[in-house]
Amino acid sequence: MTVNFSKTAVIGAGAMGRGIAQIAAQAGSEVLLLDSFEGAAGRGRDAILAQWRKLQEKGKLDAAQLEALSGRVHVAGSMQDLASCDLVIEAIVEDIEVKRALFRDIEAVVSPSATLVSNTSSLSVTAIATALKHQERMAGFHFFNPVPLMKVVEVVAGFKTDPEVCRKLAGYATQMGHSPVQAKDTPGFIVNHAGRGYGTEALRIAGESVADFATIDRILKDQAGFRLGPFELLDLTALDVSHPVMESIYRQYYEEPRYRPSVITAQRLAAGALGRKSGEGFYRYPDGAMQQVA
Ligand code: NAI
Repeated sequence: MTVNFSKTAVIGAGAMGRGIAQIAAQAGSEVLLLDSFEGAAGRGRDAILAQWRKLQEKGKLDAAQLEALSGRVHVAGSMQDLASCDLVIEAIVEDIEVKRALFRDIEAVVSPSATLVSNTSSLSVTAIATALKHQERMAGFHFFNPVPLMKVVEVVAGFKTDPEVCRKLAGYATQMGHSPVQAKDTPGFIVNHAGRGYGTEALRIAGESVADFATIDRILKDQAGFRLGPFELLDLTALDVSHPVMESIYRQYYEEPRYRPSVITAQRLAAGALGRKSGEGFYRYPDGAMQQVA
């Protein structure tokens, strides 16, 4: 089987970029990781190799497979190294102007036939694409956290996206072992639109002192069957990602009251209590294990 994109760049080696790079390599692509933060791409590569070593320990990969996969993931020194990539996946900070500036820089180095995608959770793919000369080659390619486990991928067509680009991306998602779903370019697409109420209503319940965070999480898991409670999910996603997403969807829907963000997350974001990644959020994470805050 020929992989749809033989050389994939992933820009942004954070929680999402690492996971995307991992499954892109597993699909058979050569992968380049680029990050503007010193050392972050190298740490991203190390984290991916650690995931594969765990799979080897569980007997899911043999030594030859591990070696082949490891040889496929490289750290890019600069944007110039991306010149021969046929796909560039952006997974940087959720800020439209920063993303638009990045896409302008990407287009200046890649070939005119390269496909460019954003992993944005909430921003308009159409609006990001206007930074490009060739808007038809740009789409949304939206993964979920943790990427190797969460199998849905939203393929989002912007106003000018060539349908062939979406078809090729959907095929690539399948080659990654994931399930593509076509989504329209509306704020939050499908999952983050439908899922709005889960976080915002739970924050209102907590804000009105109806119940505390841990009780709300426990009840929604035990009674409603969710795998993660809303506050556990906010901790996993991290507030520096999810609060801007809440604000962005609220603004894009013309301040629809149902989507109003919460002062609880705004204050916690300001305090740096981001979730798992900062060691404290709605729960504490000493040595990675979750602990309830008294
Ligand atoms: P993160 O904060 O873990 O990682 C972002 C990375 O991008 C960092 O390593 C940072 O150094 C790098 N970066 C920032 N600006 C850059 C630039 N101009 N050039 C190159 N690198 C740059 O964030 P995370 O969670 O990986 O999110 C990334 C994107 O994925 C956001 O658009 C977010 O909305 C989206 N997303 C996040 C999900 C989540 O659950 N965390 C789920 C689905 C999408």
